[in-house]
Amino acid sequence: MRFVPLDTPKPISKIGLGTWQFGSKEWGYGPDYEHRAADIVRRALDLGVTLFDTAEIYGFGRSERILGEALGEDRAKVVVASKVFPVLPIAPVVQQRAVASAARLGVTSIDLYQVHQPNPVVADTTTMRGMRALQDVGLVGEVGVSNYNLRRWRFAEAALGRRVLSNQVRYSMIDRGPEEDLIPYAEQAGRIVIAYSPLAQGFLSGRYDAKNPPSGAVRRANPYFLPENLERGAQLIEALRGVADAHDATPSQIALAYLLRQPNVVAIPGASSVEQMERNAAAAEIDLTDDEYAALAAAARQFRPVTGLAALPKLIRARTGK
Ligand SMILES: NC(=O)c1ccc[n+]([C@@H]2O[C@H](COP(=O)([O-])OP(=O)(O)OC[C@H]3O[C@@H](n4cnc5c(N)ncnc54)[C@H](OP(=O)(O)O)[C@@H]3O)[C@@H](O)[C@H]2O)c1
Repeated sequence: MRFVPLDTPKPISKIGLGTWQFGSKEWGYGPDYEHRAADIVRRALDLGVTLFDTAEIYGFGRSERILGEALGEDRAKVVVASKVFPVLPIAPVVQQRAVASAARLGVTSIDLYQVHQPNPVVADTTTMRGMRALQDVGLVGEVGVSNYNLRRWRFAEAALGRRVLSNQVRYSMIDRGPEEDLIPYAEQAGRIVIAYSPLAQGFLSGRYDAKNPPSGAVRRANPYFLPENLERGAQLIEALRGVADAHDATPSQIALAYLLRQPNVVAIPGASSVEQMERNAAAAEIDLTDDEYAALAAAARQFRPVTGLAALPKLIRARTGK
C-alpha cells in the first residue's frame, strides 16, 4: 500500500474504502451484502488500507454501525472518516451529531469529520465553530469538507482557524473538474483531495454496456448509465483495457491508478465484493508511464456524455420504460 506524503496523526492510504453501499438499499445489493461488507472491511485492513469513509446519512446510520462493528478493536489503528449531513449545521447541532456518529462507530474520536456538502444558507463560520469545539474536546481529530469549491474550502479554513485537511469531491477519469484548482491547491497547501465515485460508480469497470446496465436506484439515476452514454463510453473503455493488458491489470485498476498519480489525491472506491476490494487496493501499486497517462487523458477528453437537463427526459424514460 502507498500513503499520502503528509504529516497526519495516522498514515492515510492512497486507496481507502467507501461505505455508502453498506446498509443502503439504493445500491440493490440485497440482504446478504451486510455480511460481505464486514468481510470487505476485514480484507481491506489486511491489505493495509487505513482510510474508511462513511456518513451519518448512509443507510441512516447503518453504514456507520456496520463499519464500526467490522473494524472492532482495529478502529484505533485506522483513519475513520464520517460526515455530518448539513440540514441545519449550526454549532450545537454539529456537536450533537458528532456524538451520535461516534457512538454508532464505537469510537471515542472521529479521525476525520467532514461537512457532507456546503449549506446554501448557513455560513461555515457557525458550522466551523462547532467543529473547533469538537476538536478542542478531542471528539474529532481532523476536519474535512465535501463537495466544496476552492473558495468555500479556504473560507472554511479561515473560519476554523486551522487546517481543513481534506475536500471529498467527485473525481474520476470522466469527472476531472478537481484537476483545475482543488488538486493544485491541495498540493501547494499540504491538503488532501478525497476522490469519491472514482470508478464513476462502476462505469469505468467496463462491466456494463447498453444491453447490460447496472440495477439499483443509485445507478438508475446516474446519466452515465443511459444506454447512449454507455455506447459513447466504449472507446474510453477500450483505451483502459489496452493499458490494463500491459500491466496485467483490469480497467478499474487503471482508472484508479490514473487518479492516484497525483500525490495529494486518495480514492475511496466502494466495493460489492472482497475480490473488488483486493483489486482496488492493488491499484495503489500501479505506476502509469507518461505516455499511458497522456493517452488515457486524451481518451477521457473525447468521451462526451449526455448529462444535465438534456439527460433528464432519457432518465425518466429509462426508469418508467416508456
Ligand atoms: N461525499 C459525497 O457526496 C459522496 C458521494 C458519493 C460517494 N461518496 C463516497 O465515495 C464512495 C465511492 O463512491 P461510489 O460508491 O459512488 O462510486 P465508485 O466507488 O466509483 O463505484 C463503486 C462501485 O463500482 C463497482 N466496483 C468497485 N470496485 C470494482 C472493481 N475492482 N472492479 C469492477 N467494479 C468495481 C462496484 O459496483 P458493482 O460491482 O455493482 O458494479 C461498486 O459498488 C462511496 O462509498 C462513499 O463513501 C461520497
